Amino acid sequence: MAEKLAYRRVVLKLSGEALQNAKKGYGIDAGVLLNIAQQLKEINELGLEIAVVVGAGNIFRAASTIGRAIDRVTADYMGMLATVINALALQDALEKIGVHTRVQTAIEMKELAEPYIRRKAVRHLEKGRIIIFAGGTGNPYFTTDTAAALRAIEINAEVILKATKVDGVYSDDPLKNKKAKRFKELTYIEVVNKDLKVMDRTAVTLCMENNLPIVVFNLFRKGNIKKVMQGAPIGTLVK
Ligand code: GTP
Repeated sequence: MAEKLAYRRVVLKLSGEALQNAKKGYGIDAGVLLNIAQQLKEINELGLEIAVVVGAGNIFRAASTIGRAIDRVTADYMGMLATVINALALQDALEKIGVHTRVQTAIEMKELAEPYIRRKAVRHLEKGRIIIFAGGTGNPYFTTDTAAALRAIEINAEVILKATKVDGVYSDDPLKNKKAKRFKELTYIEVVNKDLKVMDRTAVTLCMENNLPIVVFNLFRKGNIKKVMQGAPIGTLVK
């Protein structure tokens, strides 16, 4: 029997940390990258249109430099550059296992990748290519979560799948508080009012205004990318 898909077109938000080795931290881990690529390949072969937005925290954290040595705007641009490094690494991993991909950057750097052109991105998706969006929104003061929300709306994705280290959104940090409870479903307003760490407020508001659901799920459980893309009731649904 053909495997069922819950969606037609999705945006997967991968943080930079998703690409690093959990123990070693910093940078890009070849094994981790291959694992993600293989899961994406499997789901791509089922016909799901996938756009990935990558973060940069494994290489550079703009937020941790604020008020310190580096000016905020400069730090944000440095973060945007770091997302391009991650995007190229993911593209390489995907192409090595035979998945067609295109990287598009919000800041033009034609020698490395295509510039972001919405209509081209949509065509790539229609042709079954995985699109990797790099460079955030191209603007300082906006996170890659906001970039994911923006791109998802622009390309008419049905959902943002936000990959994290935990099983969903909790009432407290589940890594520190054993009694923290996971929410199965939340409204956008609850996320904003309770200041739950789903995505930053700009991103959540953008999703709310455009009725774009967000599913927060654990990237590190085996097979979870496939499960979430098939609409399995894992993680937390924000709608
Ligand atoms: P279709 O025309 O829909 O088949 O898409 P396509 O991406 O195959 O066509 P195109 O001729 O635009 O691209 C061919 C290759 O060049 C692809 O690998 C693109 O990612 C790449 N490419 C296209 N535009 C740029 C660019 O501005 N910079 C870089 N570095 N590569 C580009």
